[in-house]
Amino acid sequence: MNKFISFEGMDGAGKSTHLNWFAEQLKARGHEVIVTREPGGTPLGEQLREILLHQKMSMDTEALLMFAARAEHIAQVIKPALQAGKWVISDRYTDASFAYQGAGRGMDWQKLQQLEQWVHADLQPDLTLFFDVPVQVARQRLSNNVMLDKFEQEQGDFFERVRSGYHRRVKEQPQRYAVIDAAQSLAQVTAQLVSLIAKI
Ligand SMILES: Nc1ncnc2c1ncn2[C@@H]1O[C@H](COP(=O)(O)OP(=O)(O)OP(=O)(O)O)[C@@H](O)[C@H]1O
Ligand SMILES: [Mg+2]
Repeated sequence: MNKFISFEGMDGAGKSTHLNWFAEQLKARGHEVIVTREPGGTPLGEQLREILLHQKMSMDTEALLMFAARAEHIAQVIKPALQAGKWVISDRYTDASFAYQGAGRGMDWQKLQQLEQWVHADLQPDLTLFFDVPVQVARQRLSNNVMLDKFEQEQGDFFERVRSGYHRRVKEQPQRYAVIDAAQSLAQVTAQLVSLIAKI
C-alpha cells in the first residue's frame, strides 16, 4: 500500500529541513518516494508559485491560483505517482490554503471547502505532519533570511491567525494528522519523526 503524505505548518516551522530526511527513511524501507511542493510541483505550478509569492492580488485571486496550481499538481504529478505505486510527500497541500487564505486573509471557510471538493474530493493525504510552533519561534528562525516572500513579510497577528487556522483543520479531521512539536531542537524534532515512522 502506498501513501500520500503532506507536511504543513507556518513559515519557519521546519518542514523543508526535515522533508528530505523523512523521504530517505521511507526509501530505506524499500518504498519508491517522490518529493514535491506547493504551490508548484509542475512547470506551470512553479510559474504560478513565482506570481503567488511575489505579486499582490485580491484574496479570491490568490485562493483560485493556489487551487489552479494544485489541480495541475494532482493531475500531472500526485495521481500518476500514486497510481504507479510510489509514495508522495508534498511540502504543503490544501491545509495551507485554509490556514493562509482562510484564517490568515479571512476568506470564507465554506468557499475553500467548495474548492477542495471541486479540485480533489477524492484525494486527501493519508497522513499530514503538522509542524506546530509558536509564532515568535518561527519568526526568529526566519530572521536571518535576507529575501522574504510576500507571505513571510506579513505582519501583526497574520501568523497567529494562520496557526489557529491549522488548529481548526486538525480539529475537523484529527485522524489525518500527526502534530509535531516543532519548537523543540532539531534533534528532538527528528526523534519525534523517528517514532512516527515506526508507526507508519
Ligand atoms: N527545530 C529547529 N530548531 C532550530 N532551528 C530550526 C529547527 N527547524 C528548522 N530550523 C531552522 O529554521 C529555518 C526555517 O526552517 P525551514 O526552512 O525548514 O522551515 P519551513 O517550514 O520549510 O518554512 P517555509 O514555509 O518558509 O518554507 C531554517 O534556517 C532551519 O535551519
Ligand atoms: Mg520550506
